[in-house]
Amino acid sequence: MPITIRRATIDDIICMQNANLHNLPENYMMKYYMYHILSWPELSFVATTTDIDVEQDTQDANEDYMIMNDNLGNSIKLDPTYVRPGEKLIGYVLAKMNDDPDQSNEPANGHITSLSVMRTFRRMGLAEKLMRQALFAMREVNQATYVSLHVRQSNRAALHLYRDTLKFEVLSIEKSYYQDGEDAYAMEKVLDLDELKISNFTHGPNVEKKPIEEDDLKSDLLEDIIKEGLDNITV
Ligand SMILES: CC(C)(COP(=O)(O)OP(=O)(O)OC[C@H]1O[C@@H](n2cnc3c(N)ncnc32)[C@H](O)[C@@H]1OP(=O)(O)O)[C@@H](O)C(=O)NCCC(=O)NCCS
Repeated sequence: MPITIRRATIDDIICMQNANLHNLPENYMMKYYMYHILSWPELSFVATTTDIDVEQDTQDANEDYMIMNDNLGNSIKLDPTYVRPGEKLIGYVLAKMNDDPDQSNEPANGHITSLSVMRTFRRMGLAEKLMRQALFAMREVNQATYVSLHVRQSNRAALHLYRDTLKFEVLSIEKSYYQDGEDAYAMEKVLDLDELKISNFTHGPNVEKKPIEEDDLKSDLLEDIIKEGLDNITV
């Protein structure tokens, strides 16, 4: 199943909002997605899959979703999971630089606004990759020295990802940060270009793999001979 991670564009924002509505209670108006993509086009990323039969897929979409015709007679598909026929959005990270005028004295720093991966594509390292791409771009393009985010205290999966995999630190607990009254961990991470290299991905191509143990008849035999003596060995 080919999965691509690429920069998010304006064409992706309906799908990003759809994924956000599926996965998180913190939702945003479309203009907030636009604001991110238009202001910092280098910072937000999407994961998409193209492992689908385009014709079948379009047929299925026709059955599930309304197809409209524009005034030129072209049909427009309104399936919010597809960026275009055959390309389905399965995850995103929405990121920005801190542009709070009250903090203009702070060194450049980035912020993760939202992150989610569709349920059936979780635990494959996609969130880690999306995050690392965004953090690398913040550092490389915008010279951000650190990045911040908030996470619900009850969100174990996200907390593991940020704290254990990506090495964010908990700065403070913000009481009743969320609308439903739940507290948030305010987290930060210093951005270091070397550390953000692809070779350091936990799920990346250069991850040290456990050596596969192979049967080695010679050394097994030698071990037995040493232990038991030549006469007791039958081959
Ligand atoms: C949190 C979320 C984005 C993780 O996405 P993902 O693609 O499954 O994460 P990854 O596969 O990249 O996981 C990387 C690490 O995150 C942690 N992690 C991810 N899911 C986890 C889970 N269910 N339980 C514990 N740790 C988890 C692990 O440390 C994991 O490393 P490992 O696989 O080596 O153990 C995903 O669960 C999700 O979309 N949740 C709903 C939306 C959300 O909570 N967003 C974050 C808001 S702050």
